[in-house]
Amino acid sequence: MRAQIVAGNWKMNNDLAMTETLITELKNQKKTSDAEVMIAPTFTNLWAAFQALRQFPIEVIAQNMHFAENGAYTGEVSAEMLKSVGVQTVILGHSERRAYFNETDELLAKKVDTALKNEMRVIFCVGEELNDRKSDNHENVVENQIKNALFHLDANAYENIVLAYEPVWAIGTGETATPEQAQEMHAFIRKTLSNKYSNDVSDKVSILYGGSVKPNNAKEIFSKPDVDGGLIGGASLNANDFFAIVNAI
Ligand code: 13P
Repeated sequence: MRAQIVAGNWKMNNDLAMTETLITELKNQKKTSDAEVMIAPTFTNLWAAFQALRQFPIEVIAQNMHFAENGAYTGEVSAEMLKSVGVQTVILGHSERRAYFNETDELLAKKVDTALKNEMRVIFCVGEELNDRKSDNHENVVENQIKNALFHLDANAYENIVLAYEPVWAIGTGETATPEQAQEMHAFIRKTLSNKYSNDVSDKVSILYGGSVKPNNAKEIFSKPDVDGGLIGGASLNANDFFAIVNAI
């Protein structure tokens, strides 16, 4: 049985006070699903979030980290720093990092290595742009993202890898992939992993869908056999909406 996960990516939203308020609201929600729940506040609020959620089954995760262990990288945050504030899981390869901060597959491979070396879990994002889908190149794009950043790993590394399929054209646009499009790509990702490794590896990797997941579409998307949960942006900033999505699993 694969882990089912719903993770809220808060992106660059919520100052300290807003973070604490939203966490209080999240703690008041009723959870009726077995999904693992995670939230990814911005770096400056990770420690406060971790403190507020001690003993509470919502994991605090990071949105990014640097590949180096430490050193002269002004403005960056290391795996060790994240771990020191209670963070065990990091999102890597988000399309906004790829697009606005020039994160390449090569750089992401290094970040993945550093996270795994530090015994962290990685939520690794892949996804095509609208042009790729229109030109029917979406599977190639996603396959290359996976090959270039992850195929150097041993099979056992996948115990600590979660994949997130986030079509760029569906992020923050209100346009979701149809449940069928999500299922098709998730099955393709699983096949890509089983061809390289084994069915055993691909069967165990959780693959999340992200891109305009809302309370009114989550259930249908999550009902697909290869969709193991969601990576939620906008709707994760509202406690009722986020838990409606968590409970849709
Ligand atoms: P939205 O849910 O706002 O489309 O964002 C998805 C996302 O990028 C999560 O990482």
